[in-house]
Amino acid sequence: MQLLEDEISILEGYSKQGESYSDGQNRFGWRNPIRHDTGNILRILAMASKAGRILEIGTGHGLSTLYLASGLSPEKEWTFDTIELDAAVAGTTQERMDKLQLPVNVLQGDALDVIDQLSNTYQLVFLDAQKSHYHPQLLALLQKNLIGSGTILLADNVIDRQSECQSFLDWFVVHRKHHYILPTECGLLVAIL
Ligand SMILES: C[S@@+](CC[C@H](N)C(=O)[O-])C[C@H]1O[C@@H](n2cnc3c(N)ncnc32)[C@H](O)[C@@H]1O
Repeated sequence: MQLLEDEISILEGYSKQGESYSDGQNRFGWRNPIRHDTGNILRILAMASKAGRILEIGTGHGLSTLYLASGLSPEKEWTFDTIELDAAVAGTTQERMDKLQLPVNVLQGDALDVIDQLSNTYQLVFLDAQKSHYHPQLLALLQKNLIGSGTILLADNVIDRQSECQSFLDWFVVHRKHHYILPTECGLLVAIL
């Protein structure tokens, strides 16, 4: 547990400016790790949810992965799949998880392609890749029955990047799902399906 906390401190020391990335199709994004406030909320929500099957989209260097994992019970078996587009980043983050002996699978590829290959159902999902992809990713997860009634859905940057994910936010209103946007530094959507 101490090793996990040490690794969180190391990753929190990385620049919050993040780094730019290319998705290979001349589209560029910005790889920002989650903020400290968001990390602590993710940890508490993972703890409270008692989730055994977790999915994350947008692994990066794994700061949010570690915060979520730190909230999961060491006494209970859990599965944690996390999707990362960038092969080099996915590789180093998998090594980081293996070094900490965490049962985390970093699945490399575009989230929509990876979702197509998945068959697990998930109790808690955290979205943190391209904001404009939150909506199609949600629809793909629903269509494949990877999520459903009772799944906890969390998404970062819904305040500072709201315009990019407005259609995703509207979905929760239209479908009358309990949801709330926590006014963290970037805005964290907390919802239950
Ligand atoms: C904001 S960063 C994630 C930060 C991470 N959650 C953390 O707290 O350290 C977004 C990540 O999503 C990845 N990404 C972007 N588009 C993606 C896609 N379509 N499928 C999977 N991963 C994607 C990027 O390579 C980047 O590493």
